[in-house]
Amino acid sequence: MPEYLPSNLDIIRPILWDEKGLLLLDQRLLPWKEKYLRLKTWQQVREAIKKMVVRGAPAIGITAAIGMVLGAERIRARSRRDFLAKLGRVAEGLKKARPTAVNLAWAVERMLARAQKENLSPGELIDLLREEALKIWEEDIAANRKMGKLGASLLPEKGAILTHCNAGALATGGYGTALGVIRAAFEAGKKIEVFADETRPWLQGARLTAWEMKKVGLPVTVIPDGASGSLMRQGKIAACVVGADRIAANGDVANKIGTYNVAVLAKENDIPFYVAAPCSTIDLATPTGDGIPIEWRNPREVHYCGDKRLTPKGVAAVNPAFDVTPARYVRGIITELKVLKPPYEKNLKALFEEAS
Ligand code: MRU
Repeated sequence: MPEYLPSNLDIIRPILWDEKGLLLLDQRLLPWKEKYLRLKTWQQVREAIKKMVVRGAPAIGITAAIGMVLGAERIRARSRRDFLAKLGRVAEGLKKARPTAVNLAWAVERMLARAQKENLSPGELIDLLREEALKIWEEDIAANRKMGKLGASLLPEKGAILTHCNAGALATGGYGTALGVIRAAFEAGKKIEVFADETRPWLQGARLTAWEMKKVGLPVTVIPDGASGSLMRQGKIAACVVGADRIAANGDVANKIGTYNVAVLAKENDIPFYVAAPCSTIDLATPTGDGIPIEWRNPREVHYCGDKRLTPKGVAAVNPAFDVTPARYVRGIITELKVLKPPYEKNLKALFEEAS
């Protein structure tokens, strides 16, 4: 059976794709079970993104791009125009799955634009979309490898690197952004270890970062979210590296809830705080972090751990899934093109001008 896989696939594979559809490693079950879910329709893809089967900004972008192909394959159209109108509705549906990670809308819009540009039959457009989704995936892995190389030089020869949430292979097409930087430094021989914030309520740090680091043989220590400040004050953390869901034009960074706390404490303790993210996470159309839509998820995720209720019945909980770290706390933004330093407004704009 033909498989649609990038040539530079990583050893950790959250996404697989073949003729029968998409296979997602169900991240809700890690580290207990390594089980792939098979998805055949774009609606199943949208639900999988909403329900966190797959998560992490670049990974949901790639998944949605493949969702566009699954949607396209099932379109019955009388003409190219009809096909594109129906594909537009698939795109709108997929974009609504989660609001904060700009990679999702970026990937879906890139797929749609690719189809709109060519004067081809629906059948030919499906082949083209398949190629484009694979390209997005392949480019993401290549970008992570480049960020790894560029970012590794910023890390010390030895010491503990703190990270928040999971910005690794599981959150991307492979290799990872923040964890890619840490992996690259480790592979280059630096004597580093990872301190992973557990990251309530979904425990991406405790479950996913720890699982991933174990797989690649990188020493990892899980810490309660509230412990990072104290460890920084005791001199136990050499640097912090996190990923991003969206970076505004002024360098403000939306990332997993709790990232802001880490950034402020890092500055207070004079510890470098870096953000690693591909250009697909940079949103120049949003001037500042105040304009980034923040996803608020069901409070049930805070009340419960698995099936076990943690809070007394009748008390309230809120569940903002992301926060915004103002640019002034960020020592550097590691992209696949270069490492940016402040002033971010000027340097982010220049990055895109140079690239175009
Ligand atoms: O809710 P999640 O697990 O999708 O949140 C993920 C994060 O916040 C990651 O840090 C971010 O997407 C960067 S992934 C390379």
